[in-house]
Amino acid sequence: MTFAFLCAILLSVRLLASAQNIQIQPLPPTVNYGENDLVIVCSITNPSQLAAVYFIELQRNSSTLFDGVVSVVTGQTSPIQWKDFALRNRASATASIDSPSSAQLRLTIDKANVQCPSDFKMYKCRMSGFSSIASESVSQETSPIIISYIVKPAVIEVPRVKILNELYVTPDRQFPVGTAITLTCRGQTIRWCAQKTNEMMFTGLPQTPIHSEASLSGCQYTRSSTITYNLTSQDTFTKFLCESGDTGLCGTGTAIQYVNISTTVTEGSSTTSAPSTDEESSTINSPTTNDTSENNDTLTTDGTSASGTIAGGATVLVLLILLVV
Ligand SMILES: *[C@@H]1O[C@H](CO)[C@@H](O)[C@H](O)[C@H]1NC(C)=O
Ligand SMILES: *[C@@H]1O[C@H](CO)[C@@H](O)[C@H](O)[C@H]1NC(C)=O
Ligand SMILES: *[C@@H]1O[C@H](CO)[C@@H](O)[C@H](O)[C@H]1NC(C)=O
Ligand SMILES: *[C@@H]1O[C@H](CO)[C@@H](O)[C@H](O)[C@H]1NC(C)=O
Ligand SMILES: *[C@@H]1O[C@H](CO)[C@@H](O)[C@H](O)[C@H]1NC(C)=O
Repeated sequence: MTFAFLCAILLSVRLLASAQNIQIQPLPPTVNYGENDLVIVCSITNPSQLAAVYFIELQRNSSTLFDGVVSVVTGQTSPIQWKDFALRNRASATASIDSPSSAQLRLTIDKANVQCPSDFKMYKCRMSGFSSIASESVSQETSPIIISYIVKPAVIEVPRVKILNELYVTPDRQFPVGTAITLTCRGQTIRWCAQKTNEMMFTGLPQTPIHSEASLSGCQYTRSSTITYNLTSQDTFTKFLCESGDTGLCGTGTAIQYVNISTTVTEGSSTTSAPSTDEESSTINSPTTNDTSENNDTLTTDGTSASGTIAGGATVLVLLILLVV
């Protein structure tokens, strides 16, 4: 009876001595890439069973092996010792090892420095100390954990506008009817929608976008998407959007960007579209080209109209001379 009782005590002591003394915690449990720091804490779970903690180390796996990242060692002048020097340049560590109850090692990778996916590896903590129950040294390690993460769809840039076949992006947002423009946006999966001034809502554009090669930025592939759109007389004021993320209706994506395009008043377009107009009509035309917003497209017509006014002025002069005579 007493023997059995003793056995039970001994057994429980052995169990207690082999109880887990070290734990690993990722904070937060799931890292929102780009928004959360990546923090991993190694800490002591049963400090009352330990007389001392000598050493705590955080490891992570590369291929099949685990390598030390950073450790804290008692009795050193600089207790924190880095082993992963590349990580040391973009992470920080704090530690305490003085008493078992407060002993811990904390690695922090600032959200701006987290590398995806290479930082989301398997991590584990190791410790060694002296057990006050078994009166012997203990060395333990945690099971490895995988740091889980989520990535939100990339923020899409504001659509870039170009006149078809021109080399450079234009800041202009107003074009003559008949202009073919291209709109380009960068993101994960891109959908294009438009809303004309008389329309109640955005509807998907039928154009098939031209996509660039996808390239990995962070943990997600992004690519650019380009559509060509012919501005019609219906496009007095048309809003375009590009969006990313799984969407049902237009405008429900997780990342959306807009651009507003309008057409210039069509009054003068009939005269400018006729290239055979003589000097008189071009002089009449020049005061009405008061809209200075798209000077760069009409450089040549501007030039002819300018020469038209000079020629017109000359004829007026000749007439005056004739009158004087
Ligand atoms: C190490 O991590 C990789 C992922 O980066 C995983 O595929 C592999 O199974 C891990 N190896 C071990 C031994 O944990
Ligand atoms: C725009 O107009 C041109 C001809 O002017 C035509 O070839 C092209 O298919 C049109 N594009 C779209 C998207 O309607
Ligand atoms: C586009 O026009 C709307 C008004 O319809 C305005 O609220 C919005 O700010 C404009 N967006 C841009 C990018 O100019
Ligand atoms: C050009 O526009 C200005 C105002 O922006 C106006 O005062 C002027 O009369 C216009 N000129 C012509 C020729 O329409
Ligand atoms: C027009 O073109 C000139 C260069 O030829 C450039 O410096 C200027 O920014 C352009 N203006 C607009 C509104 O595109």
